[in-house]
Parts: sequence; structure tokens; C-alpha cells
Amino acid sequence: MAGQTVVVIDVLRATTTIIYALASGAIQVIPCLEVDEARLVAAGEIPGSTVLGGERGGLPIPGFDLGNSPCEYTRQRVGGKTVVFTTTNGTRALLRCAAARRVLVGAFVNHSAICRELADEPNVTLLCAGTDGHVTREDALFAGAVVHELASAGQSMASAVPPLPLGEGRGEGASNREFVLNDQAELAADAWRSFICDNASANSLGQALRASRGGRNLIETGQETDIDLAAQIDQFDLVPELDLATWRIRLA
Ligand code: MLT
Repeated sequence: MAGQTVVVIDVLRATTTIIYALASGAIQVIPCLEVDEARLVAAGEIPGSTVLGGERGGLPIPGFDLGNSPCEYTRQRVGGKTVVFTTTNGTRALLRCAAARRVLVGAFVNHSAICRELADEPNVTLLCAGTDGHVTREDALFAGAVVHELASAGQSMASAVPPLPLGEGRGEGASNREFVLNDQAELAADAWRSFICDNASANSLGQALRASRGGRNLIETGQETDIDLAAQIDQFDLVPELDLATWRIRLA
């Protein structure tokens, strides 16, 4: 990760939820590896200024204020607050980025904003959190959507691909330079292009996320509506960034 601009991706649901929290007016999000660590960090902040959030096994943690559902992170619950946050895979992935140059938080809900932010970055790594060390389709699809967008300007192949089911902000400020892709980036972009060639509507992203491992986990635990929130492409025009000096995620 050294010298890289890293986008941490956990579409279902950690990075989607972080974006919702900051969009709802949370001042910052402090990612923690362990549940006890999160409790300690919250206890060290000014009383009343924090909200404890996260999950284990996809479910809310006993004694925490909020789980890991984006819909819980409303202005009423998190506006003006610091969110101390721990999840099984997403916050773990963030913790791997200490040597990076910049660490951004991405998901479908801020796709275009992330692409704009990356357009002039010299070295980009898309870090898919996955589940328990395994690649998951929802994260790989989002990584592919970013690669596709960044690479489109320099590759004639992109013109053969139908328009993406993306929001209005798509492409604004996208780079005209040609990115050099490794095989993993090519594979992710292939997955995204194959998805959009076979699926005409934005609704189909929700269907694809339902069929992914993370989606199936959410359906099993009765949290299926979170999938639709995560599939709202370009719902927010903002980029959360982890401040590596203070270890707090704020809006870039
Ligand atoms: C995680 O970080 O492991 C996920 O966000 C799990 C979840 O969906 O709650």
C-alpha cells in the first residue's frame, strides 16, 4: 500500500454505511478493529459526543447504539456526532492501509465522486474487503465499475459497452489519461462490463447484490432492505477520507 491512494470497498455494508453516516452530518468516523477497543475509544471522547456502531456476524453488537445498517445512520442519530465504528471485514480492511498515501472510502453510493477524486492520482489501489478473506462479487463489481470509468477515456473498447445505469454525475471530471491496469483490475472491469451488458436497468444492480455472498448474508439475517440502499448509485456526491495522522474518517 505504500505510496498508493487506496479506496477501501465494502459495499455490503461497512463503506456504504460510513458514507451514509457522514452524509447525515456525522463529524467523523473512527474505525476500530475490536469491539472492546471501540468501547474504550468511545469512553475516551467527550461524553455525549459519540455514537457506537457496528456489527459482528452481521448483527448489532450488544450495548452499541447502532448496528451496521445504513438506514440507522440518520441525521437525528449521528448529526454532529463522532461515530466509533467496528465491523468484521470493512474496518479490518481500513486498518491494513496505514502505509498508504491516501485512504478513501468507496461504494456504489459515491461512485462518481470517487472516480473524480482518483482521476489525477498517480497510483491507485482498490481494496476489496470481501468476507473472511474471500473475494465477494459485490465488492469486485464496484471495483470494476471504478476501473471501467477511469479506463474508459483511454480504451476504444469502452465504446462497445452500453451506458452504465449510473447517476447524473457520472463521468464529470473523469480523467483523460490512460491508466495502466494489473490483471486483477482487468478482471474486475470485465465482471462489471459483463454485468452491464446483460442488465439494462439500475434495478438489476440490486438483484446482483442480492445474489452476492454479502447479499445472501443480509437476506438470511432479515436485513434485505439494506441491499437496496447500497445499490443507490451516486446517491451522494462526497468522498470520505481516512486521516492517517489522527485515524479519523472525514469528508475530503
Ligand atoms: C463487514 O464489515 O464485515 C460488513 O460490513 C458486514 C455487514 O454487512 O454487516
